[in-house]
Amino acid sequence: MRRLYFACFVFLVLSACTKESDLPTKTARAPDANRGRSIYLSTCAACHNSSDPSKDGPIGPAIQGSSRDLLEARVLKATYPAGYKPKRKTAIMPAQPYLKAAIADLAVFLGGDSAPSEKDHK
Ligand code: HEC
Repeated sequence: MRRLYFACFVFLVLSACTKESDLPTKTARAPDANRGRSIYLSTCAACHNSSDPSKDGPIGPAIQGSSRDLLEARVLKATYPAGYKPKRKTAIMPAQPYLKAAIADLAVFLGGDSAPSEKDHK
């Protein structure tokens, strides 16, 4: 019985030490290619290729190698970076601004440059 009390005491001490601020926050985490893949599969693959982003999908073109600038512009705002020549002239894909926190993950998964930049992507 004494051992049980001791176990409870240890548990209470440990749980009191875990502060909210010790937990990783959304903004602090590093871009994660695996997370990017699951977002691609759940959100993009309906139109883009179902498993391989380097191939065309049933509705959307191949997007392997898309830079972070391109993803930010196209996915969040339905626009393109200045000077970028779009693969298609259509405007079928809607803006998905709720994916803001996922852009960095998508960029590392798709293998474009993951750092924000002012470069032209031609
Ligand atoms: C409703 C279908 C649909 C969904 C869902 C969709 N796309 Fe698209 N996407 C398209 C189509 C179609 C195009 C070609 C341009 C157009 O008509 O809008 C496109 C174009 C793009 C382009 C520009 C390609 C280029 O180089 O010109 C990128 C990047 C892109 N999509 C990324 C994504 C990502 C990332 C997701 C998931 C978060 C996604 N798309 C979800 C249909 C879709």
